[in-house]
Amino acid sequence: MNNYTTETGTDINKAAELLINGELVAIPTETVYGLAGNALSGIVVKKIFEAKQRPFNNPLIVHISGIEKLSSIVKNVPDIALTLLQTFSPGPLTIILPKKDVIPDFVTANSSHVAVRIPNHGLCLDLLKRLPFPLAAPSANKFTGISPTDPSHVFSQLSGEIPYILDGGPCNNGIESTIVGFEDDTILVYRLGAITMEKILQIHPHVKLANDHKVIHSPGMMKHHYAPKTPLILTENIESTIRLYDNKKIAVLYFKTPALKLSTAYEKVLSANGNLTEAAANLYKALYELDKEKPDIIIAEKLPNIGLGQSINDRLTRAAAK
Ligand code: TXA
Ligand code: MG
Repeated sequence: MNNYTTETGTDINKAAELLINGELVAIPTETVYGLAGNALSGIVVKKIFEAKQRPFNNPLIVHISGIEKLSSIVKNVPDIALTLLQTFSPGPLTIILPKKDVIPDFVTANSSHVAVRIPNHGLCLDLLKRLPFPLAAPSANKFTGISPTDPSHVFSQLSGEIPYILDGGPCNNGIESTIVGFEDDTILVYRLGAITMEKILQIHPHVKLANDHKVIHSPGMMKHHYAPKTPLILTENIESTIRLYDNKKIAVLYFKTPALKLSTAYEKVLSANGNLTEAAANLYKALYELDKEKPDIIIAEKLPNIGLGQSINDRLTRAAAK
């Protein structure tokens, strides 16, 4: 445990100065807040793992300000990777490529490959452009906890651990980047995220979910992750599940406004008319708020398994896993 008085503010100069001095700063991105530090310094990167209480075998994403910075940290960029970047960057796409030696082994957990992305957030891009190094940044939550989509979420998890939270407002996408790697002519999706399988398929016909094919083990695909403190159950039939637990203090996470609402202590609706983009943006905030009420159990409704619904179901499945 560090002993910082954690400040939240919009002072980009202060954020840059702290980072240049080897400190950690929580930064806004369009997906979730990141816990950032100098990606070229093994000492700084080690501090990220410690503040997050994250095991050293779980590698970090490196954030750069533009495609032109890629060649300084990766060895080569296959055509298909470049096409994906040109289509989706800046944006919630992370690509895994062979790393150059400037990236410390700590960042990649000794893998020969590094995960890179160009975030689509004005303040974050400004900050990256001011810095003489890229930023390693995992989501700014404690290990296995709920990812933060608002500065207050970061504060609730990392207060005392870091000096500064750069406030860029609530995150637009609200769900993490989609992580992809490349094998021959195939795009392997290691983590479903804000860019859907359908969108990637529009660019390239050969796309596979990596956990179906067990090519590389990505710790981001851990069974238990993204979890509130309260036990969570994911169900397709919310009414019958609520009835099963009617002697408990229940919190309910609905996808859309239900036709029949059973009375429960606490509830959140992700999107009143069932819009998946809105549901993704509200997901983690809703989980933080339900968790704060300290119910016995959170019952979450499964979303339609298409587009962003598939990515949200992925997070809720991991949140529910023991
Ligand atoms: O949207 C996002 O991706 C956010 C923002 C802050 O950019 N970041 C994020 O980072 O979600 P994190 O560390 O919470 O999740 C990144 C996942 C990890 O689970 C890790 O296993 C995987 O990416 N990963 C990182 N580097 C990797 C590598 N070299 N090979 C395989 N997987 C990697
Ligand atoms: Mg994370």
